Amino acid sequence: MTDRYFLLVLLSGVKQVIDLGGAKLRNRFMSASGCFGYGKEFAKVMDLNTLGAIVVKGLSLKPWPGNKGVRVAETPAGMLNAIGLENPGVDYFIDHYLPFLKAKDIPIVVNIVGHSLDEYIQVARRLEKTGVEALELNISCPNVKEGGIAFGTSPTKAFSVVKAVREQSTLPLWVKLSPNVTDIVEIACAVKDAGADALTLINTLTGMVIDITTGKPLLGNVTGGLSGPAIRPIAIRMVYQVATKVDLPIIGVGGISSLSDALEFFMAGASAVQVGAALFRDPLLLERLPKELEDYLKQRQLSIEEVIGLARRSV
Ligand SMILES: Cc1cc2nc3c(=O)[nH]c(=O)nc-3n(C[C@H](O)[C@H](O)[C@H](O)COP(=O)(O)O)c2cc1C
Repeated sequence: MTDRYFLLVLLSGVKQVIDLGGAKLRNRFMSASGCFGYGKEFAKVMDLNTLGAIVVKGLSLKPWPGNKGVRVAETPAGMLNAIGLENPGVDYFIDHYLPFLKAKDIPIVVNIVGHSLDEYIQVARRLEKTGVEALELNISCPNVKEGGIAFGTSPTKAFSVVKAVREQSTLPLWVKLSPNVTDIVEIACAVKDAGADALTLINTLTGMVIDITTGKPLLGNVTGGLSGPAIRPIAIRMVYQVATKVDLPIIGVGGISSLSDALEFFMAGASAVQVGAALFRDPLLLERLPKELEDYLKQRQLSIEEVIGLARRSV
């Protein structure tokens, strides 16, 4: 981005707008679903308007209670969670959280989940004309028995759920992919053919911890989803592979806790990024990252377009 460009933005007073699969973002940094709730708690410590968009916790048709027993565990360079998509249901969100978020000045992206194809459709329909900016279809949660990942590990099932929602919704449709597959490109292609506008990758990797004092699995759900720095190289590899083969904007997520981590995602081919587990340790991280990226580009006299996909062009 040149100095002249910065000057123009400054003089015009116009907020920067980034188009990501039809959704308009304020910058390239967002919260990752499930690590930011519905924004109310974070609003007490940070300015939500500094987000490129808020991506809220996964919502289902009816409230889901989530999993029993221990739900989180620390791991080397990461954490395991098995929340089980506990959420208050889409109608509760529309009545109790959406007015609060709409009073702010941020694009709202709603992560949606379902036990069945019909549930995904109904949640998407409820959100039509509510003023949200985009839907992020979660077909990748490893912590629920039906739905979630069951759709995201088969190209045929992924195609059918994305197509069904696409036919019922006019909102920009992002699809969040699972890393728990042999060939992520195959799933990404199926999702694109079904009409997705952008891809978010990755969700968590299935893992497990055993409590050696009891000899039992530590998590109530037995297995959980691994997130944090430990998964970043896998996420980078997947973003790189998909960006090389699939012509859709990519939102990178997995183990970002600094600008250098985010830059790896941009260089692999992501156009925007989300931050998850790092926010539990550093809640103000998302407030700092946009400015840090701006300074980085300015110092090196680069445009973000030159950075996005750099690693692919240099091989
Ligand atoms: C506690 C927790 C809850 C999560 N809930 C959701 C969710 O509701 N929907 C979803 O698509 N991803 C969910 N995720 C996955 C994150 O959005 C993200 O894809 C993953 O954690 C990798 O990013 P990170 O390493 O920056 O955390 C959750 C992750 C964590 C740690």
